[in-house]
Amino acid sequence: MPRQTTGTSITGHGVWHPDNVLTNDELVAGFNEFVRRHNAAHPDHPLKESSSEFIEKASGIRRRYVHDKTGLVDPERMCPNIKDRPEDQLSVQAEYAVNAAKRALAAAGRHGEEVDLVVLGASNLQRLYPALAIEVQDALGAHGFGFDVSIGCSAATGAAQLACQAVRTGQAQCALVVVPELTTGHMNWRERDSHFIFGDASVSLVIEPTAKARPGSWEILSVEMLSKWSASTIRNNRGYLDRCDPETEHDETSKLFHQQGRKVFKEVVPMAETFIKGHLAKHDLAPTQIARYWLHQANGPMNQLIAKRVLGREATREEAPIILDEFGNTASAGSLIAFSRHNADLPAGSYGVMASFGAGYSLGSLLLQRQ
Ligand code: COA
Repeated sequence: MPRQTTGTSITGHGVWHPDNVLTNDELVAGFNEFVRRHNAAHPDHPLKESSSEFIEKASGIRRRYVHDKTGLVDPERMCPNIKDRPEDQLSVQAEYAVNAAKRALAAAGRHGEEVDLVVLGASNLQRLYPALAIEVQDALGAHGFGFDVSIGCSAATGAAQLACQAVRTGQAQCALVVVPELTTGHMNWRERDSHFIFGDASVSLVIEPTAKARPGSWEILSVEMLSKWSASTIRNNRGYLDRCDPETEHDETSKLFHQQGRKVFKEVVPMAETFIKGHLAKHDLAPTQIARYWLHQANGPMNQLIAKRVLGREATREEAPIILDEFGNTASAGSLIAFSRHNADLPAGSYGVMASFGAGYSLGSLLLQRQ
């Protein structure tokens, strides 16, 4: 089979996260105090306490980076404190994107002025318009155009696919993918089932023609995307029509992240297995020929199981690295952060797969080869 390639490469990548670390113990102490106060006030509707042991065992998460922890652990608030900024200042999510973009551009040996496309992918967008990507484009002194992409936890791989296509067709020469996942804003910090899941971080990729890429870059051989409607397994109903139905306008629960975790686990594992195997088969590659799987970082045991089902045996930590123990689930940024943190040791010629799976359902996978 002739070697397939998009003729584009990841020439730089960078990760940024806020400095604040929130451990499971700190999180649980704040949550349990909230539960005690709630139960004292509402003995007829008692809530159950959370536990660090459960969180680590069920998810593999030990800590996460958060934008603000004062509000999250305040039992009277249970929400991050993030100040609104005046319209003439860089908005907070654009700042996340710029912080990671600067690192990715430095790694690629590029300047902002050389960028001619910004694709911003994130599971949550701070506003509807103007597009955050255009604000990032302006802050970096980039040219060309920018747009935002939203497909849940595959927003980053989807953004990478669009950037890759634009470079492949010659529409862009130096495309920037930015993934500012300020996820703590969408969580229901009062809900025991999900209060531990997410963390804040940002990641960025530079995508250029392979002909211009330096040794050590990662050539994108192909990108696969798949979506399949699932109405209520992972959902957040917040949107611009929020205020229009007086009966539901204050329904906080449905307008924050909510999921059926068990069902997601059960349904996504076989879907991801088939999807990744199918992608490799199109290149006549056996799963064991892939040196590294940078999988979506939602749940440690789920990643172990997917890697095992793809490989036909247990994967080592090197083959399928985990970053969620440190970062929590960073939504669509997870597989890109795993890639950025765990690729430097692989020799030229190595194959790697970056794969995402999440709300929608939506799945994305990039097959890469080191130059
Ligand atoms: N502390 C203590 N116990 C808790 C708890 C907490 N914080 N949260 C839930 N529990 C309890 C539940 O109430 C349940 O108790 P029960 O058996 O008495 O009813 C028990 O622990 C098991 O809960 P369950 O929700 O079935 O746990 P789980 O093993 O499925 O793990 C997730 C929960 C969310 C970690 C896991 O389902 C998951 O990560 N799924 C994949 C989700 C995913 O990929 N989402 C994509 C998002 S981008």
